[in-house]
Amino acid sequence: MKKKVYVGMSADIIHPGHLNIIHEAQKLGNVTVGVLTDAAIASYKRLPYLTYEQRSLIVQNLKGVDEVIPQTTLDYIPNLELLKPDFVVHGDDWKEGVQKETRQRVIETLSKWGGQVIDIPYTQGISSTKLNSKLKEIGTTPEVRLKRLKRLIEAKSIVRICESHSGLTGLIIENTSVEVNGMKREFDGMWSSSLTDSTSKGKPDIEAVDLTTRLHDLNDALECTTKPVIFDGDTGGKIEHFVFTVRTLERLGISAIIIEDKVGLKKNSLFGTDVIQTQDTIEGFCDKISAGKRAQITDDFMIIARIESFIAGKGLDDAMKRALAYIEAGADGIMIHSKDKSGEDIRLFCKALREVNQSIPIVVVPTTYNHITDEELSTWGINVVIYANHMLRSAYPAMLNTAKSILLHARSYEANDLCMPVKDILELIPGTK
Ligand code: SPV
Ligand code: MG
Repeated sequence: MKKKVYVGMSADIIHPGHLNIIHEAQKLGNVTVGVLTDAAIASYKRLPYLTYEQRSLIVQNLKGVDEVIPQTTLDYIPNLELLKPDFVVHGDDWKEGVQKETRQRVIETLSKWGGQVIDIPYTQGISSTKLNSKLKEIGTTPEVRLKRLKRLIEAKSIVRICESHSGLTGLIIENTSVEVNGMKREFDGMWSSSLTDSTSKGKPDIEAVDLTTRLHDLNDALECTTKPVIFDGDTGGKIEHFVFTVRTLERLGISAIIIEDKVGLKKNSLFGTDVIQTQDTIEGFCDKISAGKRAQITDDFMIIARIESFIAGKGLDDAMKRALAYIEAGADGIMIHSKDKSGEDIRLFCKALREVNQSIPIVVVPTTYNHITDEELSTWGINVVIYANHMLRSAYPAMLNTAKSILLHARSYEANDLCMPVKDILELIPGTK
């Protein structure tokens, strides 16, 4: 009987290195490839470009592959226990770095039935990282970008979104990553905020900046990024207008709109009850949601209903009643907002909603209760966290300081340390030279 060989791979960008591994594996026996699911990949790096179905189809058609199964965890062990292969074949790059421990566990598991790890010398001159950055340069299409938010919500325990109000802030969100415990962490997408869009134009957050203007500016970020966008749709306006907004956003490749259940002159929610704001009736807002859902063309665009009960000084009962009605009307997600500093109202709302509905995505904007980490929020049943204004709020004091320093000293010399070097700004955007 032929020996059993197991190969695990993401297979997002297939290159000759992968083919070499399969070729070597084939010499040893029957090859089963465990293709990592979106969730398995997203647990340690960015979501792959292709969906699991697409990646699995490609691998099934590679010469030398006998069978494809999903690998649902980064850890190989569950699949190894299932298959009990004689060999696991992998590129020898996993002897170093974060994958070192995985390799060790694979060796220990295989030894239970006399199996063996075969390390294949890494194919030189090809790097997935370089291919990845080349792909980023090519950019994305509206369709791919639009679908990405739903995929992220399905694949990740918490989706991290950060506010962007310009091409430059879009680039920060696109490219910034940090390493935490060997795992790469980055933002998953952008929030097009009504507050920061208006503020950066010197206007109040009262729906005074019209949709055309906001989309014109959002296009700057769309042109230089690939990550998904959630659009702050304020109240959504009149139902007759909202249906057009939905289609316009879909055409641009925006993944979701969040509309808040307010009517009349909208003010920013963080004013709470300090200003007069009127919440919509449940029926009125449900009609708006349903009309939007009927208008959309794609299956993947999301209309997320934002509940302002806590902002308006009402309690959990009102918020829950609205949540259930909005979901019934077709909302693809619920955003629950609060300006309370403890986060307790949000936690209780999530608990109540999760008791009756485990699947509807919950979105939060923890501006005031920001001592709670997004990882903890995810344990409350929250799927998406939006850092709604932080790029602009951090930029403004920095700019103000520089302006004051120049005025005080009648020259910019003292502001040198407050500014990035000229050389750096010249090279910040690729293609300048
Ligand atoms: C925004 O960013 O414009 C929002 C969130 O709507 S909040 O400012 O908290 O209302
Ligand atoms: Mg807003």
